[in-house]
Amino acid sequence: MPLLIWSDDYCIGIPELDAQHEQLLVILNRLYDSISGERVSRIVSDAIDELNSYTGTHFSAEEAYMQEIGYGHAESHIAEHDCFRTNVNDLARLSENDRSKISNDLIEFLWEWLLNHILVVDRKLAA
Ligand SMILES: [Fe+2]
Ligand SMILES: [Fe+2]
Repeated sequence: MPLLIWSDDYCIGIPELDAQHEQLLVILNRLYDSISGERVSRIVSDAIDELNSYTGTHFSAEEAYMQEIGYGHAESHIAEHDCFRTNVNDLARLSENDRSKISNDLIEFLWEWLLNHILVVDRKLAA
Protein backbone atom coordinates (compact mmCIF):
# COMPACT_ATOMS: atom_id res chain seq x y z
CA MET A 1 0.00 0.00 0.00
CA PRO A 2 1.46 3.40 -0.90
CA LEU A 3 2.35 5.82 1.88
CA LEU A 4 1.02 8.74 -0.08
CA ILE A 5 -1.22 9.07 -3.15
CA TRP A 6 -0.54 11.99 -5.45
CA SER A 7 -3.35 14.51 -5.67
CA ASP A 8 -3.89 18.01 -7.03
CA ASP A 9 -3.25 19.30 -3.51
CA TYR A 10 0.45 18.70 -4.13
CA CYS A 11 0.53 20.64 -7.40
CA ILE A 12 2.27 23.97 -7.48
CA GLY A 13 0.74 24.81 -10.87
CA ILE A 14 3.71 24.32 -13.23
CA PRO A 15 2.99 21.03 -15.07
CA GLU A 16 6.62 20.09 -15.80
CA LEU A 17 7.69 20.63 -12.17
CA ASP A 18 4.52 18.95 -10.83
CA ALA A 19 5.25 15.83 -12.90
CA GLN A 20 8.78 15.78 -11.48
CA HIS A 21 7.46 16.20 -7.92
CA GLU A 22 5.13 13.27 -8.51
CA GLN A 23 8.16 11.19 -9.48
CA LEU A 24 9.60 11.82 -6.01
CA LEU A 25 6.42 10.38 -4.50
CA VAL A 26 6.90 7.24 -6.59
CA ILE A 27 10.42 6.82 -5.13
CA LEU A 28 9.11 7.50 -1.61
CA ASN A 29 6.24 4.98 -1.95
CA ARG A 30 8.49 2.29 -3.35
CA LEU A 31 10.90 2.78 -0.48
CA TYR A 32 8.07 2.66 2.05
CA ASP A 33 6.80 -0.61 0.56
CA SER A 34 10.26 -2.08 0.90
CA ILE A 35 10.82 -1.53 4.63
CA SER A 36 9.78 -4.94 5.81
CA GLY A 37 10.81 -6.82 2.69
CA GLU A 38 13.99 -8.82 2.23
CA ARG A 39 14.87 -6.87 -0.87
CA VAL A 40 15.40 -3.79 1.32
CA SER A 41 19.12 -3.54 0.71
CA ARG A 42 18.80 -3.50 -3.08
CA ILE A 43 15.82 -1.14 -3.01
CA VAL A 44 17.60 1.36 -0.75
CA SER A 45 20.64 1.52 -3.01
CA ASP A 46 18.40 1.83 -6.09
CA ALA A 47 16.46 4.64 -4.37
CA ILE A 48 19.69 6.48 -3.59
CA ASP A 49 20.84 6.15 -7.22
CA GLU A 50 17.44 7.36 -8.42
CA LEU A 51 17.50 10.30 -6.00
CA ASN A 52 20.92 11.35 -7.28
CA SER A 53 19.68 11.23 -10.84
CA TYR A 54 16.41 12.92 -9.86
CA THR A 55 18.14 15.85 -8.19
CA GLY A 56 20.34 16.27 -11.27
CA THR A 57 17.29 16.62 -13.53
CA HIS A 58 14.71 18.25 -11.32
CA PHE A 59 16.82 20.73 -9.36
CA SER A 60 18.48 21.85 -12.60
CA ALA A 61 15.02 22.42 -14.13
CA GLU A 62 13.87 24.46 -11.14
CA GLU A 63 17.07 26.43 -10.89
CA ALA A 64 16.97 27.21 -14.62
CA TYR A 65 13.37 28.37 -14.17
CA MET A 66 14.42 30.65 -11.30
CA GLN A 67 17.12 32.19 -13.46
CA GLU A 68 14.70 32.58 -16.38
CA ILE A 69 12.22 34.55 -14.26
CA GLY A 70 14.88 36.40 -12.21
CA TYR A 71 13.54 34.86 -9.00
CA GLY A 72 14.37 36.95 -5.90
CA HIS A 73 14.54 34.03 -3.44
CA ALA A 74 16.77 31.87 -5.63
CA GLU A 75 19.71 31.85 -3.20
CA SER A 76 17.81 30.43 -0.21
CA HIS A 77 15.87 28.04 -2.45
CA ILE A 78 19.07 26.68 -4.02
CA ALA A 79 20.58 26.35 -0.52
CA GLU A 80 17.73 23.94 0.31
CA HIS A 81 18.44 21.95 -2.86
CA ASP A 82 22.14 21.77 -1.85
CA CYS A 83 21.08 20.55 1.58
CA PHE A 84 18.99 17.80 -0.05
CA ARG A 85 21.96 16.72 -2.19
CA THR A 86 24.23 16.63 0.90
CA ASN A 87 21.68 14.59 2.92
CA VAL A 88 21.28 12.04 0.14
CA ASN A 89 25.07 11.68 -0.10
CA ASP A 90 25.38 11.31 3.70
CA LEU A 91 22.64 8.65 3.74
CA ALA A 92 24.32 6.84 0.87
CA ARG A 93 27.53 6.63 2.91
CA LEU A 94 25.69 5.45 6.04
CA SER A 95 23.61 2.96 4.09
CA GLU A 96 26.64 0.74 3.68
CA ASN A 97 26.22 -0.26 7.37
CA ASP A 98 22.51 -0.52 8.08
CA ARG A 99 20.15 -0.41 5.10
CA SER A 100 16.90 -0.95 6.98
CA LYS A 101 17.60 1.96 9.35
CA ILE A 102 18.59 4.12 6.38
CA SER A 103 15.36 3.18 4.65
CA ASN A 104 13.41 4.68 7.57
CA ASP A 105 15.64 7.75 7.67
CA LEU A 106 15.23 8.27 3.92
CA ILE A 107 11.44 7.98 4.11
CA GLU A 108 11.31 10.48 6.96
CA PHE A 109 13.64 12.82 5.08
CA LEU A 110 11.65 12.65 1.80
CA TRP A 111 8.37 13.06 3.66
CA GLU A 112 9.66 16.25 5.32
CA TRP A 113 10.99 17.46 1.98
CA LEU A 114 7.56 17.06 0.43
CA LEU A 115 5.87 18.97 3.26
CA ASN A 116 8.44 21.70 3.81
CA HIS A 117 10.08 22.21 0.42
CA ILE A 118 7.69 21.19 -2.38
CA LEU A 119 4.52 22.40 -0.67
CA VAL A 120 6.04 25.62 0.68
CA VAL A 121 9.25 26.73 -1.05
CA ASP A 122 8.45 25.41 -4.56
CA ARG A 123 4.89 26.68 -4.30
CA LYS A 124 6.29 30.13 -3.52
CA LEU A 125 8.47 29.89 -6.65
CA ALA A 126 5.42 28.95 -8.76
CA ALA A 127 3.44 31.85 -7.36
FE1 LIG B 1 10.85 20.90 -6.68
FE1 LIG C 1 12.83 23.41 -5.20
